[in-house]
Amino acid sequence: MANRRLAPAAEQPAAFAFSPENADWAKGQIEKYPEGRQASAVIPLLWKAQEQNGGWLPQKAIEAVADELGMPHIRVLEVATFYTMFALEPVGRFWIQLCGTVPCDSCGARELKDYLHCRLGAPGHVSADGNFSWLEVECLGACCNAPMAQINQDYYEDLTPDLLGTLMDDLAAGRPVKVGSQVGRTSSEPLGGAETLTDATLFDGSRVGAWRKRFEEKDEENEAGKAEAASSEQRAASEPKPGRPDSGRAAEKSVTDAPAQRAAAGETPVKASDKADAADTKESTAQGGRPGPAQPETIAKAEAAGAEAGTQSDLPRSEPPPQPAASGASADAPADAKKSAPNNPAPKKGN
Ligand code: FES
Repeated sequence: MANRRLAPAAEQPAAFAFSPENADWAKGQIEKYPEGRQASAVIPLLWKAQEQNGGWLPQKAIEAVADELGMPHIRVLEVATFYTMFALEPVGRFWIQLCGTVPCDSCGARELKDYLHCRLGAPGHVSADGNFSWLEVECLGACCNAPMAQINQDYYEDLTPDLLGTLMDDLAAGRPVKVGSQVGRTSSEPLGGAETLTDATLFDGSRVGAWRKRFEEKDEENEAGKAEAASSEQRAASEPKPGRPDSGRAAEKSVTDAPAQRAAAGETPVKASDKADAADTKESTAQGGRPGPAQPETIAKAEAAGAEAGTQSDLPRSEPPPQPAASGASADAPADAKKSAPNNPAPKKGN
């Protein structure tokens, strides 16, 4: 990267002023920005001053731009010295800005730099014939076609030392030159030619409207699907199919978790009382009836069976169940004595 210094005083002009046309142009640029933001026009004005001064920016031009925009001189000097697009020293008729940033460097910019050193000497100096000066700059945004150089306003890409030499010769001689890639690339396509979008019909107009055909085919498919659905609905309306017997209704199923029914079905556990009741349930069900509430005789049988088994019946009853006889109590004991006897009398001492 070159030093960014103003040209020696001996090379600086005594004054600078925009030409009337450029002054009008500058005024138009300044008017693009809102009141108080005129400083935003600093780069276009510096660019125009450089162009008017033969391709480089003298100190007086920098100060004139600062005065025009109402900016301190130092602020405009900072801008001019920051951007390499502004040449601070006189340049040749063809000013070569060679990109030396990594992509270009890795693609051969170093060889180009050596070539320029050999042919023109150190950067920042005008060649003896006044035709060339050169400068290494940072990325110019054409990395895809590296290495490259900007000469005046144009980009020259895919350079080699030989190609650059020929190009400089042609420029110096006033022969026409090819701007852009020097190896025949179109824009930034791959070296060796395009590998994608190679179908000519993409570009000859024959595919125009092809997308519409695809959508039309899809629409036709959708219409056919709708027609088929409509005919199915009509058929269903004219030829209804019989529904299943229980369709749309709650299924009626017999309850099978009642103890009596479990007993009737031979399921376990079955209590003795359930067995007695099962016969009645079976009989009732066989007669076409539903299992209903237990009958009084059933309850009595169940209670008797429960007493025999030492358990209580699960059937509903209207009176309290009989209590078991006290241990050792006689069967002929008076009813009153039996009634008053405790269920679990405490053993007497000495017995
Ligand atoms: S690195 Fe050279 S143009 Fe970007």
